[in-house]
Amino acid sequence: MTTITKISIRNAFWMSWALSFSLVFFWQVNYRNRHGLPPPPPIPNLRPHVFNLTDFGAVGDGYSVNTRCFEDAIAAIKERASDGGAQLIVGPGRWLTAPFNVTSHMTLFLSRGATIVAIQDAGLWPILPALPSYGRGRELPGLRYSSLIHGQHVEDFVLTGHNGSIDGQGGWWWEQHKQKRLRYTRGRLVELMWSTNIVISDVTLQNSPFWHLHPYDCTNVTISGVTILAPLDAPNTDGIDPDSCKNVLVENCYISVGDDAVAVKSGWDKYGIEYNRPCVNVTIRNVIARSQISAGISIGSEMSGGVEQVLVEDVYIWGSRRGIRIKTSPGRGGYVKNILYKNLTLIDVRVGIVVKTDYGEHPDLDFDPKALPVVANISFDGVYGSSVRYPVRMFGSKEVPITGIDIRNMNVGLTRKKRNVFTCDFLQGRVVGKVFPSPCKALIREEASQTATGISTTFE
Ligand SMILES: *[C@@H]1O[C@H](CO)[C@@H](O)[C@H](O)[C@H]1NC(C)=O
Ligand SMILES: *[C@@H]1O[C@H](CO)[C@@H](O)[C@H](O)[C@H]1NC(C)=O
Ligand SMILES: *[C@@H]1O[C@H](CO)[C@@H](O)[C@H](O)[C@H]1NC(C)=O
Ligand SMILES: *[C@@H]1O[C@H](CO)[C@@H](O)[C@H](O)[C@H]1NC(C)=O
Ligand SMILES: *[C@@H]1O[C@H](CO)[C@@H](O)[C@H](O)[C@H]1NC(C)=O
Ligand SMILES: *[C@@H]1O[C@H](CO)[C@@H](O)[C@H](O)[C@H]1NC(C)=O
Ligand SMILES: *[C@@H]1O[C@H](CO)[C@@H](O)[C@H](O)[C@H]1NC(C)=O
Repeated sequence: MTTITKISIRNAFWMSWALSFSLVFFWQVNYRNRHGLPPPPPIPNLRPHVFNLTDFGAVGDGYSVNTRCFEDAIAAIKERASDGGAQLIVGPGRWLTAPFNVTSHMTLFLSRGATIVAIQDAGLWPILPALPSYGRGRELPGLRYSSLIHGQHVEDFVLTGHNGSIDGQGGWWWEQHKQKRLRYTRGRLVELMWSTNIVISDVTLQNSPFWHLHPYDCTNVTISGVTILAPLDAPNTDGIDPDSCKNVLVENCYISVGDDAVAVKSGWDKYGIEYNRPCVNVTIRNVIARSQISAGISIGSEMSGGVEQVLVEDVYIWGSRRGIRIKTSPGRGGYVKNILYKNLTLIDVRVGIVVKTDYGEHPDLDFDPKALPVVANISFDGVYGSSVRYPVRMFGSKEVPITGIDIRNMNVGLTRKKRNVFTCDFLQGRVVGKVFPSPCKALIREEASQTATGISTTFE
């Protein structure tokens, strides 16, 4: 090769390199200018078959009603069930719809910029029977509205995406509720009943009419990387309520709502006692929660089927009325036992840890006041924070004593008030290691070498 051709080849190489670089650069700048964002990530194929919601005639303009399109898409997915199921892609846009039922072996994928929007017409929300373990619609006697996204006896359902969202447009419902104009209990945003192997990840749920995410009597539920947002005063907009479920993992979530951010439940008074399905093996970790009206992480008050083996770890609760709450009442029956809280951070919270055994609130006057709940073997290892007004309030009663409390490594900074900041009654248990503020007298101080009472740190 001559020197000249060598040089011109080299020049051509650099020129084409510079040209492609600037093309990509200008395309990116141009894209960012148009969208204020880098280009969207490619959408993964998570099932053997893939559908696009627009294949079924859907229009994401925020006005067209797409209920029929979702139903047709889900019917098409059902036909692929024996072949690994199918994925339904919801692209960028606002996809207005009435409630619909999902199916087994389905992945609902919400792209970046995709929002499924709930229609505000109550006449288009199906009415469902009361849950068997509640005996009524929860806030009102009788029936209840379906959730926006609903599933019964579903197996292997995945709701995921690139942080697309589902917006319940709850404002209308909250107003109707406040004015006592509703005949039935408001709908959840997402509810799965009697289902197994459910994954909900990397999506945003917002403005539910009522609770946001309600797995009911399900097995194997993973909820990961979910953001849940509602106004801090939007009534009963709980974030995640695992209810009579087995094997639940909630991790890496951010929840800021108008009621409990997470509430582990298992049915209500005689209906829950009769239904008899505990909520068992629940892990809640790496969650940031805010609840100005209720609590960050709750158990109850409906717990009549029992709640056990709950691990709450690396949880950060801020700007809330309460941090951790266990609530129950005579009439509930059931139990709350084998609960472990590890590494809690409480910032700007009125009451840090509350156990309340006289919560009241019954489905009807038929409850048996002699059905007493058991509250036992609850451990805290590592409770930190600042600006907490009352770090601990644990009140059992003569009928419902609290036993087996174990608190170790606690250091919670107070607001100005210094008296009655760690109070308890009808309580048995101990503290180990450094515990600040100084614990109530009922708790016996023990040496740090002891291991936690009656509770293993893993629930395998
Ligand atoms: C879905 O269909 C719409 C309209 O045909 C199209 O613009 C979009 O790129 C499709 N999305 C995917 C992931 O195929
Ligand atoms: C969903 O399924 C339930 C149970 O079969 C049914 O009662 C309800 O009407 C269905 N909802 C819709 C929107 O079809
Ligand atoms: C998902 O979207 C919500 C709401 O827009 C936002 O607050 C959150 O930070 C987003 N999460 C991720 C991981 O991008
Ligand atoms: C739940 O998950 C476990 C572990 O992956 C699995 O062995 C079990 O079969 C699942 N349960 C159901 C009902 O599918
Ligand atoms: C408990 O649930 C976790 C999911 O959080 C699961 O991995 C584990 O296998 C379950 N343990 C038992 C004993 O089923
Ligand atoms: C405790 O939890 C916080 C989140 O609230 C986390 O940042 C921190 O790493 C955790 N500490 C340990 C020792 O795991
Ligand atoms: C609490 O733990 C103790 C010690 O392991 C055990 O004897 C007791 O039965 C447990 N209580 C309940 C209600 O499970």
